[in-house]
Amino acid sequence: MYTSKIAGIGHYVPDNVVTNKDLEKFMETSDEWIQERTGIKERRWIDPKSDDMPSTMGTKAAKKAIENAGLTPNDIDFIVFATLSPDYYFPGPGVQVQDLLGIKEIGALDVRNQCSGFIYGLSVADQFIKTGMYKNVLVIGSEYHSGGLEKTTRGRGVTVIFGDGAGAVVLSRSENNHGILSTHLHSEGKHAKELALIGPATNRWVDQIMSENDPDDTSYYPYMNGNFVFKHAVTRFSEVIMEALMTNGHQPGDINLLVPHQANLRISQFIQKKMGLSDEQVYNNIMRYGNTTAASIPIALSEAHQEGKIKEGDLVCLAAFGSGFTWASALIKW
Ligand SMILES: CC(C)(COP(=O)(O)OP(=O)(O)OC[C@H]1O[C@@H](n2cnc3c(N)ncnc32)[C@H](O)[C@@H]1OP(=O)(O)O)[C@@H](O)C(=O)NCCC(=O)NCCS
Repeated sequence: MYTSKIAGIGHYVPDNVVTNKDLEKFMETSDEWIQERTGIKERRWIDPKSDDMPSTMGTKAAKKAIENAGLTPNDIDFIVFATLSPDYYFPGPGVQVQDLLGIKEIGALDVRNQCSGFIYGLSVADQFIKTGMYKNVLVIGSEYHSGGLEKTTRGRGVTVIFGDGAGAVVLSRSENNHGILSTHLHSEGKHAKELALIGPATNRWVDQIMSENDPDDTSYYPYMNGNFVFKHAVTRFSEVIMEALMTNGHQPGDINLLVPHQANLRISQFIQKKMGLSDEQVYNNIMRYGNTTAASIPIALSEAHQEGKIKEGDLVCLAAFGSGFTWASALIKW
């Protein structure tokens, strides 16, 4: 068995900055409420006039990750694309990345695990490299939330939280056994509707939504039972981080950097406190980008790496929780 390592990282976010004050213009909210409850100061929302889409943003992040790995696009053997906001209902954006990179006809897999999507994708890529099937796998997380959010007071509980962007890594065969030590994936589908976008989908086709023409129908906007999600998130995050540490004979104090999915600063701070971690051991950038779902971990990892916060030999833990519910972790010796 081989070991896989993160050989290159990159991220891309749209230029358009939307501050909390900007949101006050079209819904009853306040900078104070948003910062106090979520830690978010601003987020990036795609300018609809730009060519930014999940596929194009993902490709921009991927190109940076490939360059950062010292590779060329044709060195990539397989693509894993995680998103809950694909350009099309089908096909998923993985195939679009294959086309946009202009590379040979390699496989492209789309992962639908929302906020845990990037770690699920990383785990899939890790298995391909471990078995020797592939040498370089591109793992992308990319989201375009802003176009589908309800930008009114009715939607404010969800809308203020989410942002757009993309991050990517190249996972490659390691030469020195440094790399992914283990990944841990979980789900609890009985809570699927607590954080979900129900329609349009096969349980609720566009025809049905249009024929009902119900002004109170919010099924085509994301729904989130915020308090319920919060309570489950803090429990599952801690569990899955401990699972990764225990599997590899480590304790929280051994972590050099925890990069949690950027769901809410209060959730990150709760986990930090519960696990007795210092500020230096936890990376947060939700203040600048909001919650970018599958993109949040690779964007944060990319920024942390650029800022020199990750060194060779460091123990880096990734952890996520989100819609499904799904939750996941990865422990990496850098
Ligand atoms: C969404 C979340 C920030 C809401 O914070 P909260 O403290 O739970 O707030 P509540 O939902 O109880 O709402 C409190 C009040 O603020 C109001 N409110 C909701 N959104 C608001 C906003 N954007 N601006 C101002 N007021 C708002 C509510 O209407 C409610 O008013 P009421 O008391 O008059 O009914 C919080 O539940 C949360 O972070 N949950 C987890 C979300 C998450 O991490 N999701 C992603 C998982 S991957």
